Formats: sequence, structure tokens, C-alpha cells
Amino acid sequence: MAKTSMRYKGSNDYIASDELMNSVNIAMALQKPLLIKGEPGTGKTMLAQSIADSLGMDLLIWNIKSTTKAQEGLYVYDTVQRLYDSQFGDHDVANINQYIKLGKLGEAFTAEKQVVLLIDEIDKADLEFPNDLLWELDQMTFYIPETKETVTAKQRPIVIITSNAEKELPDAFLRRCIFHYIAFPDADAMEKILRVHHPNLEKKLMEQAMETFYTLRNVPHIQKKPSTSELIDWLQALVVGGISPNRIKQEIPFLGVLLKKNEDLDTLLNSLHGKTQAKPQTVYTSTSLNRYRY
Ligand SMILES: Nc1ncnc2c1ncn2[C@@H]1O[C@H](COP(=O)(O)OP(=O)(O)OP(=O)(O)O)[C@@H](O)[C@H]1O
Ligand SMILES: [Mg+2]
Repeated sequence: MAKTSMRYKGSNDYIASDELMNSVNIAMALQKPLLIKGEPGTGKTMLAQSIADSLGMDLLIWNIKSTTKAQEGLYVYDTVQRLYDSQFGDHDVANINQYIKLGKLGEAFTAEKQVVLLIDEIDKADLEFPNDLLWELDQMTFYIPETKETVTAKQRPIVIITSNAEKELPDAFLRRCIFHYIAFPDADAMEKILRVHHPNLEKKLMEQAMETFYTLRNVPHIQKKPSTSELIDWLQALVVGGISPNRIKQEIPFLGVLLKKNEDLDTLLNSLHGKTQAKPQTVYTSTSLNRYRY
């Protein structure tokens, strides 16, 4: 059973809003999975690490791919190895237990101490995937017919599920989760996040970089808006490149760190030309780290 006195209060390297901390604590108190959605790079995956750190628990990560099946999270019966051993090995192949390999859910259930289980990017799998896990996530138990064993959670894991909303999730699944949408950080929250990653950064450089970043995000029709993680990388590039805050007022160095699509570079160009008819001078360097002068 989860200890109801446990509270998530954020961690040193992760900035969590009060609303997000509340959602985590409510999900823990109600013993339900917490479904996290939000734009790429808004800290969905890192939240699970932060919860594990702050509660002193181990984190188990189940990375979902388009081919992942729910069964793999419970256990896999390695029939190929058993067949191989029956022909060439000296194992006792009658002991099927040795060919049962627990998946991440199985590991979380059998862990001695309560763990945080991250099911990352659940929307990558097919639509049946979440439905196939309903029973196990509700009841925290599953049966292995091959060994006639029932695996039941010793301690109910804290389950965090992330989704980029590539696909809608089934209603029956949503009904069983607590939902939280991580809003894109405003300037205040972003400054705190950046301070975690760049504690010694010159304030003026950070402010100027943030101004350029939010301006870029607000350019209409940008398909892939730069995310928090791209801003973090960009600041690193600016520091390594020895770029001064004043220079960012006139050009965007290392633009390729922020914008990753040709179409978006064109959109930016058109938008800036529209505004600054007098100086339509573009400079792309030959490296992948384009820059744009205005
Ligand atoms: N609130 C935050 N506090 C500290 N760092 C953050 C925060 N949000 C994002 N970051 C940083 O941004 C980067 C991206 O975070 P993360 O991978 O968790 O995002 P994500 O939402 O899972 O992205 P994706 O949808 O692409 O998987 C990480 O390097 C993380 O350190
Ligand atoms: Mg992620």
C-alpha cells in the first residue's frame, strides 16, 4: 500500500508548478496512474525521475515503441531458449520458471520496495495497448499460465504515463487515470528552469536569449516550435560560441539549434522580411548550424 503521508515537493533539478505537484500528490493518494501530456520538451519524462529522486525510490522506465505489446510489460516466455536448451544444453528444461522474463510492470510488482514506474510515450503503441493494460494497472496483478503463478504487487508502484497526444487514448483508459497537462512555461518559470541547467549564466544573456526564443515561438505558422530543451541547448551553444547579449539583438546565431525544419526557416525569413523591408539580408552558414541576420 502507498504511504499516504508521502508528498512530492519537486526536486533540486526539476522545476514543478504547484498544480503539477498537486496532481502528483492526488494521483499518489488515490493510487491511480498519472497521465502527463504536454508539448515536446516540457519535462514529462523528467518528472518521473524527479518524483523518484524526491521520494527516494527507484525508477523503472518502460519506453513504448510502435511495436510494443502490453504483454511484454508483464512477462515474456522465452520458448526459443528453452527449445535450444532441450537440444544442446544441460539445463533442466522442465523448470519453466527460468524461461519466464519479467517485463517492467512485472519488475515493478515484484520489487521489494515501492518504485516509480514510468510508461513513456504510451501513444506510440497501437490503440489496443492501453486497453490491454487496464486490468493489470487497476488490480496490480497478473497470472502466468505457463507456471500457474500469480504475480501481485508487493507495493503498488507509483505509475506515471506520458503521451505526446499523437493518438487519442481510449475512454476506458482515461477514466482510470488522473490527468495533467504541463503548460508551456511562462518567462518566470522558464528562467527558473534555465537556472537549473545554467546556474552561472550572465543574466543579460539569458534575458536576451529568452526574448529571442519567445519571439521565435510566436512567429505565425512555425510547424515545430522550439522547446525548452532546445532553448537549454541554444544557451549552451551561445556560451561555447562566446556570443554577447548585444549580438543576439542583431542576429540569431546557431539558429539550427532552435529551428529544425527548412519550412520553418523560410517562414521565419518571410515573417522578418515582412516587418523589416529595409534590411532583407540573410546569411546562412554552410554548416548545419545556420544563422540568420536581420
Ligand atoms: N520543469 C523543468 N525543470 C527542469 N528541467 C526541465 C524542465 N522541463 C524541461 N526540462 C529540461 O528539458 C529537457 C526535456 O525534458 P523531457 O525530456 O523531460 O521532456 P519531454 O516532455 O519528455 O519531451 P518529449 O515529449 O520530447 O519526450 C530535459 O533536458 C529537462 O532537463
Ligand atoms: Mg519524453
